[in-house]
Amino acid sequence: MAFATITAQEALDSALVALSASGVDSPRLDAELLIARACGVDRATLVAAPETILPAESIAPLREWVRRRALEREPLAYILGSKPFRRIELTVDHRVLIPRPETELLVDVALALPAQARVLDVGTGSGAIALALKHERPDLRIAGSDTSADAIDVARANAARLDLDVSFVVGDLLNALDSGLGPVDAVVCNPPYVADGERRRLAPEIVRHEPSDALFAGADGLTLLHRLIEEAGARAVAWLALEIGAGQRNAVTVQLRHACYEEPSVLADLAGIPRVVVARRAAGAAAR
Ligand SMILES: C[S@@+](CC[C@H](N)C(=O)[O-])C[C@H]1O[C@@H](n2cnc3c(N)ncnc32)[C@H](O)[C@@H]1O
Repeated sequence: MAFATITAQEALDSALVALSASGVDSPRLDAELLIARACGVDRATLVAAPETILPAESIAPLREWVRRRALEREPLAYILGSKPFRRIELTVDHRVLIPRPETELLVDVALALPAQARVLDVGTGSGAIALALKHERPDLRIAGSDTSADAIDVARANAARLDLDVSFVVGDLLNALDSGLGPVDAVVCNPPYVADGERRRLAPEIVRHEPSDALFAGADGLTLLHRLIEEAGARAVAWLALEIGAGQRNAVTVQLRHACYEEPSVLADLAGIPRVVVARRAAGAAAR
């Protein structure tokens, strides 16, 4: 793509050709967002004024962004460096999974927790769930944990920028509670749940760019979910909300009942896929 002095419309036409040819899913939207960023305006402003002349100094960066998006199939959120999630905007980069819209359901169900409840977001990544929940329920006492020290750095930076009082620790599943956090009333978790064999079916944006430790969990994708439910039962965590993958509902609800969680309820995402399982510990059940 060669830009001289050009309008937003000309840049859009050129970027659209490159992004469409390389198989990007939403070429127009992505092109508009990249060009809007280059012009320093929002997308609606750009679309309303396609005759806008691109600032000269934005042309080289825009060319590089389009190249990364088209040829390397780098996700738009990594190129722009941010992703909206519920009512907050998170800074994201290659160290963390890009928060998905369906994960907003986990925050929805956690809004029903009682006042002052102590909550741990296991596998917090960018801090998306923990920070969005704190933003909407400031009374909750929320912490986030992750095995990735890089992810915890990103989550802490997001908490500082958003001025949200959430603590983050490095740790493996519920062992994170032993590093000073203490017991919790509720655990929310969007764990890695993709089966290893699915790798070849995933979009290049995911397999080439997102951290594989955030995605894959053994032959059936259930390794982390199984370990987490076992640990939650052993620690008698009172309330759990877990994101799951397509086809994992039965295995997860059966194990939850076995670990003394009664009547797990399952919520579907907007595509109708069972996506979030919520379970409460049976009254009087001993730790197991
Ligand atoms: C699917 S990502 C979810 C990230 C974020 N919660 C979100 O929803 O956008 C899973 C996260 O779990 C972390 N993780 C993987 N194994 C873990 C473990 N054993 N204990 C804690 N976190 C783990 C990964 O590093 C990754 O950040």
